[in-house]
Amino acid sequence: MRYERLLIFVFFTAASWICGKEEATPKDRLIVETLLRLERFDVSGNEKWKGAVQRYVYSQRGQEGYFELVEKFSVQAELPELLRLVETDPTSAQSAKSVQLLFRFGEQKSLSNLLFASTEEKANAIAALISFLKTPQAEKLLARHKALNDPAKTVGKEAPALLSTPQDIDALANSTGNPTKGKAVYQKFCFACHIAGELGIDFGPGLSEIGDKLPKSELLLAIVKPNAGISFDYEGWTIETKEGSFWAGIVSESDHELTVRMAGGVSQKIKKTDIASRTKMKASLMPEGLHLAMSENDLVDLVEFLSVLKKKKVLP
Ligand code: HEC
Repeated sequence: MRYERLLIFVFFTAASWICGKEEATPKDRLIVETLLRLERFDVSGNEKWKGAVQRYVYSQRGQEGYFELVEKFSVQAELPELLRLVETDPTSAQSAKSVQLLFRFGEQKSLSNLLFASTEEKANAIAALISFLKTPQAEKLLARHKALNDPAKTVGKEAPALLSTPQDIDALANSTGNPTKGKAVYQKFCFACHIAGELGIDFGPGLSEIGDKLPKSELLLAIVKPNAGISFDYEGWTIETKEGSFWAGIVSESDHELTVRMAGGVSQKIKKTDIASRTKMKASLMPEGLHLAMSENDLVDLVEFLSVLKKKKVLP
């Protein structure tokens, strides 16, 4: 395990040393802005453009538009940076985006290596990000990862929260948890899809005032049985294109194209003429069984955190 980790780091360091040395110039920026305006995203045939894009995108690391640029121009030189983001903190919002882009670039192998080389806790967080993608490729990678790991070992030391009966739910709904600890649980399992205050990504319904809307028992139900009632605006669709790629998420439509919004906040535009099929998902885009990955205490803390998310009272 250690050895693998070391190899990955050597790879990151070497790759960023080779690709990212030169500083972006104002001219690079101008070239990129022009390409964006002209929607010329394939720069593979022009070394000057390619160099400008690489330097400029490198200079945008950590900035707001970074991922969009990497995606639009398919900047392969940023692959090590995407992997580094996931490896450094797989519970960050950037990691959710990185995982999606890595799949987009066909980097399943690197993710698989990263899963294998990571500590159990990190591997679980990375696996959760991959599971959000819901594509056949993502499922295949996870199945392989599961098969390689002894299932008995991947369950935490504390018993998971099972909650199979309504009585179980009532009992937990009457417990009081620690909202600060609950915030950490939120950050681990929910951030990629929901905004709570300043935390998280806008994909599913916002939860900043969920404590006003749902009592604890219904918050628990929403977590344990996401398929029981799917909010109308958040139904999931799967789109398959004629060239065989597969997208799953929330769809909005204009005359000529669909926009698929995915967990983690990445969007993909697809021309209607490129679509082979589109199918409404029966299940919620919110994964079932998230509670099985946490202890009962974690779940109580999480629900406490959610229940205190309320509209701020305006003081008289
Ligand atoms: C992969 C994305 C994803 C993740 C991860 C996720 N959710 Fe959701 N969630 C959704 C979507 C999409 C909906 C709306 C569709 C539905 O109702 O099933 C939703 C609905 C909800 C609702 C109902 C909101 C309402 O206004 O009625 C609650 C509450 C909720 N989620 C809480 C959570 C919590 C807590 C977690 C973490 C344990 C979590 N979600 C993790 C995507 C996600």
